[in-house]
Amino acid sequence: MVAQKLTAALLFLAASFAPSPAHGASSILTVCHSIAKEISSSSSVYYPGSSNYGFDVSHWSNLSSHSAVCSVEPGSAADLRVLGKSRAPFAIKGGGHTTNPGFSSTNGVQISMTRFSNVVYDASSQTVEIGSGLVWGDVYAALEPHSVNVVGGRVATVGVAGLILGGGMSYNTNQYGLSIDNVVAYELVLPNGKVTTVTSKDEDLFWGLKGGFDNFGVVTKFTMKAYPQTEVWGGTIFVLPDSLDAANDGIAQFSANVTDPKAAIESAFTYYAGQVVLTIIIFYDAPMPPPGLFDGFLSIPGATQSLSTRSFLSMAHATSSDPGAPNVLFNGPQVKRVTKPLLQAIVNETKFWGDALTPYSASGLNIVPETFLPSIFSHGQHSAYPPERLAGLSPINMMFGWNDSSPAVQERFHDALVQSAAQLASVAAQDGQDSTDAAVYTNYALYGAPVGNYVRGKCKEVEEDQASV
Ligand SMILES: Cc1cc2nc3c(=O)[nH]c(=O)nc-3n(C[C@H](O)[C@H](O)[C@H](O)COP(=O)(O)OP(=O)(O)OC[C@H]3O[C@@H](n4cnc5c(N)ncnc54)[C@H](O)[C@@H]3O)c2cc1C
Ligand SMILES: *[C@@H]1O[C@H](CO)[C@@H](O)[C@H](O)[C@H]1NC(C)=O
Ligand SMILES: *[C@@H]1O[C@H](CO)[C@@H](O)[C@H](O)[C@H]1NC(C)=O
Ligand SMILES: *[C@@H]1O[C@H](CO)[C@@H](O)[C@H](O)[C@H]1NC(C)=O
Ligand SMILES: *[C@@H]1O[C@H](CO)[C@@H](O)[C@H](O)[C@H]1NC(C)=O
Repeated sequence: MVAQKLTAALLFLAASFAPSPAHGASSILTVCHSIAKEISSSSSVYYPGSSNYGFDVSHWSNLSSHSAVCSVEPGSAADLRVLGKSRAPFAIKGGGHTTNPGFSSTNGVQISMTRFSNVVYDASSQTVEIGSGLVWGDVYAALEPHSVNVVGGRVATVGVAGLILGGGMSYNTNQYGLSIDNVVAYELVLPNGKVTTVTSKDEDLFWGLKGGFDNFGVVTKFTMKAYPQTEVWGGTIFVLPDSLDAANDGIAQFSANVTDPKAAIESAFTYYAGQVVLTIIIFYDAPMPPPGLFDGFLSIPGATQSLSTRSFLSMAHATSSDPGAPNVLFNGPQVKRVTKPLLQAIVNETKFWGDALTPYSASGLNIVPETFLPSIFSHGQHSAYPPERLAGLSPINMMFGWNDSSPAVQERFHDALVQSAAQLASVAAQDGQDSTDAAVYTNYALYGAPVGNYVRGKCKEVEEDQASV
């Protein structure tokens, strides 16, 4: 069973569906036509030129928008079986926010889950069924009247499916864990077309779906635990270059000393006109935070604050989801603690790569260290991500964007993300954190990373198994 688990972990690295030479556009078109004939009236096939097709292939980062031959909007789990009949290359899109080309995009058949859009709250079991075509803003809006919530994304426009299947970090993660720690059942269409419900009883599949994206089939519905949700307090603080040092003291203080699981922050360092600016998102899971908790941020000189008691949904709309450039890639090295030396290195990396990449149409270059509690992984167990749960880890979300669409420029930004992540890992190591050994967070991972980056860790089980593969 352990061998199966490791194989599963390796499998999700192959989540790229480049068309094989055996499948030219004309043979894919034949597949599109036969899908159209076989599906029920709840599903549809669309072709270039139609607005549904445009929506189905579009992605947050245009780098991931490909020219599929057709798009399919399945309307029932049963119709997904039809797709399994051909070997045509395909990709499955939830909210389309992955930045890695080919993960949810294809030049073959684009499957768009948009018609799986129900949110059903069951008060008696305190669970919520969530369609895999939804984005988080839809889910929070549907749950707000019931004063309950689920552990989901922080930005309203991000997709439910990819965020959960890659792990899922929320404002409420310090209280309840990752999104995958809160899924009680997945409705899954297996590659053989069988529709099944996966729960903790199906040990290996349940494990694999927690971090393994689309490698085990197509998820049509998630059933998640529901939690009571009151109004929250929070918003953004915008910091100018002169006050970065004071802000970094506040962030390091928060990371070292704040243990209240209802508190969360997210700090985005942004390259802007040759300088580094900072936006700190502050969140507290109650209408008012305890006095003093966020003083380190409220006292930053010259900062612009936009903080209030508000709905959880309004928090999800408080951060911009504008990519800032047509092309964006992520990387996500991990650390245990966000310290002052690490923050200084992040400021330096933002400035260094902003300057270095400006000639290559850099636009929207951000480095966002996450600041979760060391207990982040204590709320669940047995998952593809993280492969082991002994030490708490917070990823640094690096987002480099640019305008020029030439492949050479893409390669330059890819290399910059690899180099910059290595530099931050080395600074963290010098600062007493051996993070170079940690598994990358799958939802921020950059394509082309060595397989070892996803199964690394101190898990004895995996190490023994690697030796025996
Ligand atoms: C603006 C922004 C904000 C973000 N905020 C957060 C955050 O707060 N917390 C966090 O953890 N992450 C965050 N992320 C990262 C995010 O979790 C990933 O980009 C995630 O994969 C997006 O999910 P999606 O459905 O939109 O993506 P998609 O690109 O549609 O899918 C991503 C992956 O999931 C697979 N997939 C999609 N649907 C299905 C399905 N039904 N069945 C099987 N596989 C499927 C795809 O094939 C692909 O491999 C953010 C990203 C962006 C761009
Ligand atoms: C977006 O991607 C498409 C398809 O790859 C391409 O044709 C188009 O020029 C891109 N748009 C921008 C603004 O880069
Ligand atoms: C954490 O709190 C202790 C005790 O108040 C203080 O000495 C220390 O400087 C704080 N850590 C950080 C990183 O601010
Ligand atoms: C800033 O970052 C660059 C690129 O990683 C590195 O070469 C340089 O040493 C860093 N400077 C400082 C002062 O840390
Ligand atoms: C890149 O494109 C954005 C619009 O998508 C524009 O605002 C920005 O000025 C452009 N930047 C560069 C460097 O060309």
